[in-house]
Amino acid sequence: MEQNSTPTIQVTTSGKVVVTNAKDVLLLDGEGNAIATRNRFTLCNCGKTQDGPFCDGSHKQ
Ligand code: FES
Repeated sequence: MEQNSTPTIQVTTSGKVVVTNAKDVLLLDGEGNAIATRNRFTLCNCGKTQDGPFCDGSHKQ
């Protein structure tokens, strides 16, 4: 089975935003500075994280 390598951003119903196949994705902060990422990372979209901009699971509480 061929793996999909398309960079993908999925907005989930739980609030997190899952970014996959992200090796060429450039994540910037509010001042335009690059934030280190991995090939797969999850962004917070609920505002509860203590590890912004990444999801730390706080949306589950
Ligand atoms: S979406 Fe997970 S902590 Fe906000």
